[in-house]
Amino acid sequence: MSKIIIAVDGYSSTGKSTIAKALAKELGYIYVDTGAMYRAVALHALKKGYIGVEGLQKEALIDSLSAVELRFEKQETTGAVEMHLNQENVEQEIRGLQVSNYVSEVAAIPEVRRFLVEQQQQMGSAKGIVMDGRDIGTVVFPEAELKLFVTASPEVRAKRRFQEMKAKGQEVTYDQVLQNILKRDHLDTTRTVSPLKKAVDAIEIDNSKMSEQEQFDKILKLVQDCLKAEKEDPR
Ligand code: DC
Repeated sequence: MSKIIIAVDGYSSTGKSTIAKALAKELGYIYVDTGAMYRAVALHALKKGYIGVEGLQKEALIDSLSAVELRFEKQETTGAVEMHLNQENVEQEIRGLQVSNYVSEVAAIPEVRRFLVEQQQQMGSAKGIVMDGRDIGTVVFPEAELKLFVTASPEVRAKRRFQEMKAKGQEVTYDQVLQNILKRDHLDTTRTVSPLKKAVDAIEIDNSKMSEQEQFDKILKLVQDCLKAEKEDPR
């Protein structure tokens, strides 16, 4: 059976990675979380001291990119794929608040994007991949056979994220979470380089009123239709 590339783009906290992971598992495809790559570069900048009181030292970060080695490694026990930065498992660290606060700025640097996009394209060269991010259908794989653009209202996303954070014992209010989501939407959609936008040929999935199962079934049907079309008329 021929393999395809599935690009999953969309706003933050829409559950993109849950969808992408479940799809990859179902299809036996590779899953790549490109946000983790931007987060790892932001962590590298923090570790090297390129982020301080005077802000982000962009030139120093750009010059140091050749010393950044990123690798996704599958954990034998859980089966989860975790990010390694220069041979160190940084999966927990890249999800922390410090990295979250700086990652948008790091992701807006064109040299950083070029550095990561090249690696992402390499990962998809044999197809059979589900990649999630912001620019996968527009920049990384404009030729992807299936492009999904996941959305949900800011209030629904904030509510889900707030419940998740509270369950983890984090001290936040719903309003803080909503403000953070609105700020990230603004940064993601208005940056000059590769802003988040729906590719013209992407299929929009608004999951505000959908259960995870309904969403999965709908997307799996899209994948099956796409695989069938590929078989009948390969690109
Ligand atoms: O999906 P996430 O929240 O882990 O992404 C972290 C940051 O990286 C977020 O600010 C958007 C940015 N990002 C990006 O610019 N391009 C991608 N392909 C993936 C993430």
